[in-house]
Amino acid sequence: MHNYAAQIFIDIHRTIGAISPLLFGGFAEHMGRCIYGGIYDPGSPLADERGFRTDVLDALREQQYTVIRYPGGNFLSGYNWLDGVGPKAQRPRRRELAWQSIETNQFGANEFIEFCQSINAAPMLGVNMGTGTIQEAANLVEYCNAPTGSYFADLRAQHGYREPHKVKYWCVGNEMDGPWQIGHLDMHEYANKAREAAKMMRWHDPSIELILCGSSNDQMPTYPEWDRVALETCWEQVDYLSMHYYAGNRDDDTDSYLASAAAFEAFVDTLAGALRYVKAKRRSKHDVYLSWDEWQVWYKDRSGRGGWTEAPHLSEEIYNLEDALVVAQWLNVFLRRCDVLKIACVAQIVNVISWLQTTPTGLLKQSSFYPFKLVSTLARGHALDVLARGPHHATATYGDQPLLDVSATYDEATGQSALFVVNRSQTERVTTEINWQSGAPTTIDAVWQLAGNDPKAANSWESPNALVAYAVTPPSVRDAQVTLQLPPLSFTALQGSSPTG
Ligand code: AHR
Repeated sequence: MHNYAAQIFIDIHRTIGAISPLLFGGFAEHMGRCIYGGIYDPGSPLADERGFRTDVLDALREQQYTVIRYPGGNFLSGYNWLDGVGPKAQRPRRRELAWQSIETNQFGANEFIEFCQSINAAPMLGVNMGTGTIQEAANLVEYCNAPTGSYFADLRAQHGYREPHKVKYWCVGNEMDGPWQIGHLDMHEYANKAREAAKMMRWHDPSIELILCGSSNDQMPTYPEWDRVALETCWEQVDYLSMHYYAGNRDDDTDSYLASAAAFEAFVDTLAGALRYVKAKRRSKHDVYLSWDEWQVWYKDRSGRGGWTEAPHLSEEIYNLEDALVVAQWLNVFLRRCDVLKIACVAQIVNVISWLQTTPTGLLKQSSFYPFKLVSTLARGHALDVLARGPHHATATYGDQPLLDVSATYDEATGQSALFVVNRSQTERVTTEINWQSGAPTTIDAVWQLAGNDPKAANSWESPNALVAYAVTPPSVRDAQVTLQLPPLSFTALQGSSPTG
C-alpha cells in the first residue's frame, strides 16, 4: 500500500462548453424485454392503466432522462411504423428479423410518445433506411408533426391524437455501415439516400433536427471514411453525426478496462476532426455535432436470437463494480467533450444491456445505475477544464494512464458546482486536494461514493444493495480548498454551492 496523493485545480472561468441536457439520454429498442416486459407490461400488477410499468417509470424519472431514442437499433431497419399505430386488435404479429423474435406491435409510435411524456423526456424517432423508403420516412414526419388536414396527420387524429406530437429529433437510419444491418448500404448509397430522406422530412417540418448514421464503432473497416463521405454528402441537411460504441473487459484485464476513457476520447477526437474537415471543405457556416446515441458496457451476454418468441430474454447483462466505473468515466468524457458532443443515449434503458432489470413483480438496480443518476442530476451549466496532477500506472492496452479520471461543472445561474472523480487503482487510496482557483463553493452540500474491494462484485436479486452510492460526510471548505479520500475502485461525486449574484 502506497500513500498516494493528488491535486485537482478548478477555475470556473476555464470552461470547455455549455453542457447539453441531451447528454443524459437513453435508448429503447424493440429487442428482448426492453419494450415488452420492461416499459410495457400490461399483465404485471405494477402496470398502470396504459400498461406502463410504474416502477420502471419511477426509476427512469429518478435518473432524469432528457431524451429517449426509439424504436431501434437493428430493429428499425426492418420496421414498418404503420404496423404500430391504430387499434391494437388490428395490429399485425410479425416475424422480426433483426432479433428473430415475434413482434406483436402492441407498442408503437403513439405509445412511445405517451411514455416519453410520462418521464418528461424528449422523443427521438428513427426512420427506416434499410427496407424503408424515403417516402415512408417523410410520411412518419407528417404523421407525427403535421397539423390535421392531410392524410397522415388525419390518420394520427383518427388514432386519438389530434395535436401534433412535435417530435424534434430524428435519426436517419441505424448503423447502416454494418453488414448485419437489414438492407445495409455502402457509404455512397447511404449518404445519397439519407440526404434525400432528410430533404423530404424537413420539407414537412423545417424545425426538426436530424441525426446522420456514423460508424457503428471505431473498429469498422470503413471507419472513419464512412463518416467523412456521409458528412460531405449531407452536411447542410443534418445536425448531428451518430456514433456507437460498446465497451467490455473481454481479456479480463481490469487495469486496461478501467482506462477505457482513453478509447472513448480517441473516438470523439477522430470524429471531431472529421466534422472540422468537412465544415472547412464545404466552406459552410452550418455546424454538425456528435450524437453518441448508443453507448454501454456489453460483452458478457451477447445473445441476440429470440427463437421466434415474444419478448425473449436477450442480452440481459449483469453489471459489476468495474463496469460502473467505466460508465462513470464515459460520463466524464461526455462532460470533457461537451464542446462537440451534444446528445448521448445509453443503450438500453431497461432489461436489454441495461442497469435496470425487471421481473413481472420487481425491479433491480445494478451498479452503474448510480453513476448515471449522480452525473445526470448534478452536472449543470458549463463543463470545466480542470487540471489534475497525481499518480499514473501502466496499462497493457493504453500505456501509462493517470489513476484519477476527473470532470467538473459549474452553473453560474445557481452557483452549484459538481466534481466527478474515478479512482482507477485496484489497491490504492488517493488523498486528493481540490483547489479552486476561482469560484470556490462556500459549502460542500454532499459527497457520494460508489466503491468496493472486488471489481467483479455485483448487485443481485438476493443482494440488491451490495453496490450503491452512499453519502459520506462532506468536508468543509478552507482557503478555497477541500481534501477528499478516494478509496481504490471508486467513483466520487461532490456537490457544492456558493451564493450567486
Ligand atoms: O443495442 C443493441 C444493438 O446494438 C442495436 O440494435 C444496434 O444498433 C447495435 O449494434
